[in-house]
Amino acid sequence: MPKDIIVAIDGYSGCGKSSTAKAVAQALNYTYIDSGAMYRAVTLYLLQHKIDPAHLAEVLNALPQINIRFVTKPNSTPPIYETYLNGDNVEQSIREMSVSERVSEVSAIPQVRHAMVSLQRNMGADKHVVMDGRDIGTNVFPHAELKVFMTADLTERAHRRKAELEAKGSTATLEEIIENLAERDRIDTSRTENPLVKAEDAVEIDTTHLEFDEQVAKVMSLAQEAMEIS
Ligand code: DC
Repeated sequence: MPKDIIVAIDGYSGCGKSSTAKAVAQALNYTYIDSGAMYRAVTLYLLQHKIDPAHLAEVLNALPQINIRFVTKPNSTPPIYETYLNGDNVEQSIREMSVSERVSEVSAIPQVRHAMVSLQRNMGADKHVVMDGRDIGTNVFPHAELKVFMTADLTERAHRRKAELEAKGSTATLEEIIENLAERDRIDTSRTENPLVKAEDAVEIDTTHLEFDEQVAKVMSLAQEAMEIS
């Protein structure tokens, strides 16, 4: 009988973590949790309330006012995942460049991380989850049965992100996107609190030359193996 497991998928911005994690969660009938969406929702709240992320006291005052919830509509194919901030569906607005430009700064604030990590651990308390982010395998679930670390060439990541943003009507240029991804990589890997780093026991998958279906198949086969042996 296969065991329930936690699948932790970490990696750089824009290398296909979320889409892979969603497809794997759907195939396993697991819950998908987008931890980056939580940091994005906090960032959106701060922007909406004109709170400068550099003003720690104001950020700390704001944190208890922020309620983040995920809603999954399992009957649609593929399932639709939506992020709610204080009751509002913010799934689209948290993906805008204005949020992307500030989110790494906000997610580097230790108190913000502590609050989000504690929510994430609660969401995975019964296993049966696929969670993607930057510190899931190293910090949120260091005992996850399967840890995947995804990488991809920066230019390839920027092309993919541009196509995604264009589909949503954004006009960001390739140069702006490359700059944003590179800056987020820099902040995410160099922050003092749980920086983005490959866990020792994570399996690295470079998606630069992989088709989407191939990367999903790789993670699925690793997940099935982990379910048998855990
Ligand atoms: O996965 P994403 O690009 O939506 O994440 C947005 C930002 O949130 C990313 O730049 C770094 C941060 N993040 C983090 O610090 N830790 C996580 N577990 C997930 C995201």
